[in-house]
Amino acid sequence: MENLKQAAAVEAAKFVKDSMVLGLGTGSTAAYFVDEVARLMTEEGLSITAVTTSFETASQAEKLGIPLKSIDEVDHVDLTVDGADEVDAELNGIKGGGGALLMEKVVACYSRDYIWIVDDSKPCKQLGAFKLPVEVVTYGAEQLFRIFEERGYKPSWRMRGDERLLTDMKNLIIDLDLGVIKEPEKLADELKSMCGVVEHGLFINMVKKVIVASSEGIKILEK
Ligand code: A5P
Repeated sequence: MENLKQAAAVEAAKFVKDSMVLGLGTGSTAAYFVDEVARLMTEEGLSITAVTTSFETASQAEKLGIPLKSIDEVDHVDLTVDGADEVDAELNGIKGGGGALLMEKVVACYSRDYIWIVDDSKPCKQLGAFKLPVEVVTYGAEQLFRIFEERGYKPSWRMRGDERLLTDMKNLIIDLDLGVIKEPEKLADELKSMCGVVEHGLFINMVKKVIVASSEGIKILEK
């Protein structure tokens, strides 16, 4: 599996050009891409500036000597490369398994190009087998949790050890165990309209290219 993640990351690195401003995703697959960007800089002399989608990725990139800026310091992002938890046939997906969905979505929204890198366990027919993360402000979070329960969304708090996980943006995550999500767009609208919801892990119509690595090789899914 690790080899497949790395293979997808190496393939994505072929889209990196000199002087680009890159968005660096979060998670075990994206981490391989960060390594690859560092290699392109040291071995091939590329000059790169990067924006990160989590403190974890920022720490990795810093250690590797990749120059970082905040999303508010750059006037554009050329390309963001990130992993995903599930991808359907329309290239919609669920993200946030690592708890970074808010920063990931912000960086992706402001990127000119956006690629996902996944191993072949991630593509699916319909989204929902993976629990859908919803990032909520702490104030009133219990009310949201109760509403999710009433709607049959089987919510659970994202935990770190014995405590509720606080995201990099100091919010909580409620994971929804929805089973098949028949109408992702409708659900996305519903979640976005709820008071206290900051963001959800449905990434709809955002990505145009998904690089899938399997033991058979690399496949590029495009819209
Ligand atoms: C982080 O919050 C996530 O959105 C990750 O991008 C996603 O969980 C994929 O992670 P892996 O590459 O570790 O499976």
